Amino acid sequence: MKKLIAGNWKMNGNLAANEALLRDIAAGLPAQPACAVAVCVPAPYMAQFKAMVAAVPVLSGIDLGAQDVSSQQSGAFTGEVSAAMLKEFGCRYAIVGHSERRHYHGETDAVVADKAKAALAAGITPIVCVGETLAEREAGQTGEVVKRQLAAVIHTNGHCISEIVLAYEPVWAIGTGKTATPEEAQAVHAVLRTQLKAATDQVARVKILYGGSMNASNAASLLAQADIDGGLIGGASLKAPDFLKIIAAANA
Ligand code: PGA
Repeated sequence: MKKLIAGNWKMNGNLAANEALLRDIAAGLPAQPACAVAVCVPAPYMAQFKAMVAAVPVLSGIDLGAQDVSSQQSGAFTGEVSAAMLKEFGCRYAIVGHSERRHYHGETDAVVADKAKAALAAGITPIVCVGETLAEREAGQTGEVVKRQLAAVIHTNGHCISEIVLAYEPVWAIGTGKTATPEEAQAVHAVLRTQLKAATDQVARVKILYGGSMNASNAASLLAQADIDGGLIGGASLKAPDFLKIIAAANA
């Protein structure tokens, strides 16, 4: 399966910094990357991304993603951005259920499942994040937690589950510099793959990304694992040389 390397810029950047970052990435992007590449940018910068693709054609090899999407279609939901709006700006992906959304914005498993559904209905691939906290890992609950989070998305999305991208992001590894070892990550990915297999006969289509302090030096060993089909990259996606090294590791 073709790997996917997706950058998650989070709430970082500005017009000048984004332009420099994208130009640097474009300059180092292999002509025909063997992996798929995406950047999930803050919503106000989607138009900038589109304009830059027109100016720097190599960037058309990078797909655009959002960092969140509303579960609602339209109406009185101040501050929300609908899947249809994202689609108008050429978004191919939308991250849903990132642990920062679950934690700071109180998003429940059911809300995350509804967001995935709204994305799919608009033709956007949701990148559904699951992952345990440090306390949950230490209590031996990792499998139970990620299975509960994924079960909600399977329940709401039925056979469409084969259309999602899944991302395992242990909360304790996000932005901390602590990475799950390749073996730890692979073990959870295998659990998730088994759960997906029971839900769809199209499991071979579902990419399962790893996220949480993936960087230029640990990417290759993580991406070498049987069930790790790519990465969701936060901090390292803001530095062109690092992001390019991760793309190169996925191409190897
Ligand atoms: P990180 O973030 O790579 O900075 O740990 C990953 C993520 O939160 O998606």
